[in-house]
Amino acid sequence: MSVFSKDFMWGGSVSSMQAEGAWDEGGKGLTTYDAKGTTKFGSDWKVAIDFYHRYKEDIALFAEMGFTAYRFSLSWARILPDGEGEINEEGLRFYENVIDELLRCHIEPVVCLYHFDMPLALQEKYGGWIGRETLEGYKKYVETVIRRFGTKVKYYIPINEQNAAFLVELLQLPPDTPAEERSRLQAVIVHHMFLASASVRHLARNYAPHAKVGGMVNFTPVYPATCRPEDILAAQRAARSYNYQALDVFAHGEYPSDLLKEWDMAGITPPMQQEDLAYLRQAKMDFLAHSYYMSITMKGDESSNGISVFMRLIQNPPKNEYLQQTEWGWSIDPVGFRLTVKEIYERYRLPVFTMECGIGVDESLNAQNTIEDDYRINYFHEHLKQLKLAVSEDGVDMMGFLTWGPIDILSSQCEMKKRYGFIYVNRTDTDLKDLARYKKKSYDWFKKVIASNGDEL
Ligand code: BG6
Repeated sequence: MSVFSKDFMWGGSVSSMQAEGAWDEGGKGLTTYDAKGTTKFGSDWKVAIDFYHRYKEDIALFAEMGFTAYRFSLSWARILPDGEGEINEEGLRFYENVIDELLRCHIEPVVCLYHFDMPLALQEKYGGWIGRETLEGYKKYVETVIRRFGTKVKYYIPINEQNAAFLVELLQLPPDTPAEERSRLQAVIVHHMFLASASVRHLARNYAPHAKVGGMVNFTPVYPATCRPEDILAAQRAARSYNYQALDVFAHGEYPSDLLKEWDMAGITPPMQQEDLAYLRQAKMDFLAHSYYMSITMKGDESSNGISVFMRLIQNPPKNEYLQQTEWGWSIDPVGFRLTVKEIYERYRLPVFTMECGIGVDESLNAQNTIEDDYRINYFHEHLKQLKLAVSEDGVDMMGFLTWGPIDILSSQCEMKKRYGFIYVNRTDTDLKDLARYKKKSYDWFKKVIASNGDEL
């Protein structure tokens, strides 16, 4: 008998700006990503892999692989072009078509409502999540989505990797913002994002009682560099700040005492309105979702707050001598994956859903128009082996496993060279070519894994 339940969900995950393209079509408003222009790689966010026009072809490829779930984010600006005013019917229709196509192929749509990108108007008018008006716009957008999609969508993720999303927002601040002001604004953003997540739970209760809402973090296990007590303390503090504080709020509906202490010691009071804390308390999440890419190590004399963890992840992940690394310096740690789901489940006793996992590699097609990506097969083989142990030996209640970028898409930094897919997309950073799709060797391997519900790895 399979280790995974028979309704265990298998599939993949993408975001709107990394996949869709069609940046100025279908009545979509401009977004913060559109405003970034051309990157240092010579790429931009305008066409991505053109999922907007090719979604049927892509969904057919996922269906052939046997996907039972697909997570994608909606572009807020396709639905509310300025983020808070008029509703754009054409944008809603596009997503409804995608959802209908998924359902026709027996693939469960898992809808993420915010993945780092927002209508530019909100950024310009209110400083993005700094303004409470942005939260009000988000609520209107979410209500529109939930009411429109009704029973078609059963799973919602309010904010992608919320613990990282706080910090992505913070990076938008002018570099000369004084440190104290930065900390104050961080607390404002954190509070508004938690209220936003809670609003999805409340709105689902009103308009889609069947739907389950999952708070999501980027979970990164933090290992002490040695068994020196100072290193252990630093690793624990970093893990609290980066991984657990957000999960605490999702699971318990309350700010944890260490976060309140941090704010208190820094003399910060987030802009709470009277009803905010009750609003959070009444919006505990139904499940906990996470992405997983790597673990990191920490020494006692290093800064161990969430920002410094995040900066190390995106700039210079530390090497762990026991682990191999990807070409981008990310440690490959399958046991860290087991620890991740085990930690989340043991602490919170809520079902766990892996939303993203994968390896980014610089690849090109061979003469047979495919890629022999045995390294990717090996990567997933090892990670899934650990996931099975987490279920069979640790008793973790797992809802599903979604891979990141099941088809090659732009990376978070807009780099097409960094490919995660089972399906190759024919374009480079600077040349859009014909955007044709080709199956890699791992395509058939993952198909077999899904067909056997994880028995055959
Ligand atoms: C996750 C993000 O943190 O990591 C994705 O949700 C991102 O948007 C993914 O693409 C992989 O990171 P990268 O930088 O390799 O694209």
